[in-house]
Amino acid sequence: MSFTNLLIAIADGVAQVTINRPAALNALNVEVLKELASAFAGLQEDETVSCVILTGSGAKAFVAGADIAAMQPLEAIDAVNFARLGHDVLNLIEKFPKPVIAAVNGFALGGGCELAMACDIRIASENARFGQPEVNLGVIPGFGGTLRLARLVGKGRAKEMIFTGDMVNAQEAFRIGLANKVVALDELLAEANSMALKIASKGPVAVRFAKEAVDSGLEMDLDRAARFEADLFGLCFATADQKEGMQAFLEKRPAKFDGR
Ligand code: CAA
Repeated sequence: MSFTNLLIAIADGVAQVTINRPAALNALNVEVLKELASAFAGLQEDETVSCVILTGSGAKAFVAGADIAAMQPLEAIDAVNFARLGHDVLNLIEKFPKPVIAAVNGFALGGGCELAMACDIRIASENARFGQPEVNLGVIPGFGGTLRLARLVGKGRAKEMIFTGDMVNAQEAFRIGLANKVVALDELLAEANSMALKIASKGPVAVRFAKEAVDSGLEMDLDRAARFEADLFGLCFATADQKEGMQAFLEKRPAKFDGR
């Protein structure tokens, strides 16, 4: 896979996808969004990949938002289409059947914060700043910010961030549940990689079902979510991974999963 705006490196079952437009602080335009969709489609097919890390190029920004220069002249219908493309790509990442870790290496603003929130887990560097500053531009979040931020940090905090456009620093993002952990910038990728390797060593089908159970379960009422979880739990018993995982425990040895 080769892209104009993305760098992709795969090692030990972990794919690192780097958005590489540092001159524009990795801002998302149509081309970047389409490349992300195509990269994730490729990684979905790649059986050697168990986990994905998404990050931005440079030491300053994860992604500073949707590309303002590209958006500025848009007519309303083109803006709807741009937002729909953003939603489609972020939904694809959210529903990606393997875990996706955002390594947030600086500004995650607007579409960048929305992109990070579409990932399963966010690890922030100490210099990271999260925000939905769209009201400064006379618009609202358009790639799922009003939906995902409210679900992650609660309605009140989400509204405060969205109405004021204020950024929160990494520690505050951690405190309110927007970041899972905060590490020094020079440790960020190692930390993300170590978490990815840990996840990659677990039963892959179980991890995929767990992601589905959490994400879909949050959209259901509790009774349906409980039945859905029980069904997926039961389905695990149709896998070789369940047999190996439980057998290995009983034999007091590490399990060797093969994702079947
Ligand atoms: N789109 C396009 N270009 C951007 C950009 C963006 N979102 N953010 C930064 N850039 C560009 C700047 O224009 C600048 O380019 P030039 O060097 O060619 O002038 C370059 O990146 C560096 O940026 P700054 O000089 O502004 O850097 P700074 O350190 O002074 O400030 C910043 C950094 C606070 C992140 C500032 O760049 C900023 O506020 N960026 C915009 C953030 C924003 O509003 N994001 C939301 C966009 S709207 C959106 O995302 C809608 C949605 O939900 C889909």
